[in-house]
Amino acid sequence: MDTQLVELDLADWAGATPNEAWIAALEAGKVLYFPRLGFELRPQERELLTPSVLSPEVRNISLDANGRIKGVAGEARRQAVSEMVGRFRAQATQLIHGLLPHYTPALRLAPTSYRPAQVETRVQSWRADDRRLHIDSFPSRPNYGERILRVFTNVNPEGAPRVWRVGEPFETVAKRFLPRAKPYSRWQARLLQALHVTKSFRSEYDHLMLQLHDGMKSDLDYQKNAQQQTVHFPAGSVWVCFSDQTSHAVMSGQYMLEQTLHLPAARQYNPDSSPLAILSRLTGRTLV
Ligand code: SIN
Ligand code: FE
Repeated sequence: MDTQLVELDLADWAGATPNEAWIAALEAGKVLYFPRLGFELRPQERELLTPSVLSPEVRNISLDANGRIKGVAGEARRQAVSEMVGRFRAQATQLIHGLLPHYTPALRLAPTSYRPAQVETRVQSWRADDRRLHIDSFPSRPNYGERILRVFTNVNPEGAPRVWRVGEPFETVAKRFLPRAKPYSRWQARLLQALHVTKSFRSEYDHLMLQLHDGMKSDLDYQKNAQQQTVHFPAGSVWVCFSDQTSHAVMSGQYMLEQTLHLPAARQYNPDSSPLAILSRLTGRTLV
């Protein structure tokens, strides 16, 4: 199969420049992989690499767009964690501005997360289980086609890789699962909003994205037999993808930093490659 991974030689967060082929690959749903680009921890930050920095019952630590840190256990480590995550945010956003300057005025910063939990031992419902191939779509947060661009880095101190599976292109996924999708219902969407199940009105786009997400995750035969490749992201590497488009699953690993950025689909280099454009084309309908 065609690889869904594009390897880039960049070794400096500040040194990225735009390249037509990489941009087209990213917007086609491929993963840009930077084996030589790592996030450097300060010596005193080593002690933050333990699951005990997590508050009880919390999956991830997050730094919100206003710079507030959430999910850290104990007052003493809050500042240190906040500084580490904030430094990653600065570098990740610098990388994106360098690679994709046309996005810059339209990007909206979302939280930065620090994930110290071990992936292999997490217990989750099938719907929340990111060890199953999926595209990102969140039941409570409709986004009307706004893109989810993510920068990841593996900071594992023992050198354990973060192991992903990367699946087939979005259009292939959509063609497979759209015919099985439940029809959209506006009154149901209105009800979900009234009950505060969703934070805003769920559009047909958001409904279909969730149907693809659930369709993929609930189909064990698809999980096993769909076209896919396993990728080991070593400690000290970075990768970038549109996680609402790239079919992905995380199989193992521990200690990762992740930055999310949102972008209106219309502000892409090629808006026709977005999930919104693809789903609109395949259904023949306006979905937002
Ligand atoms: C996901 O976005 O599905 C999880 C990615 C990861 O934890 O490596
Ligand atoms: Fe995901």
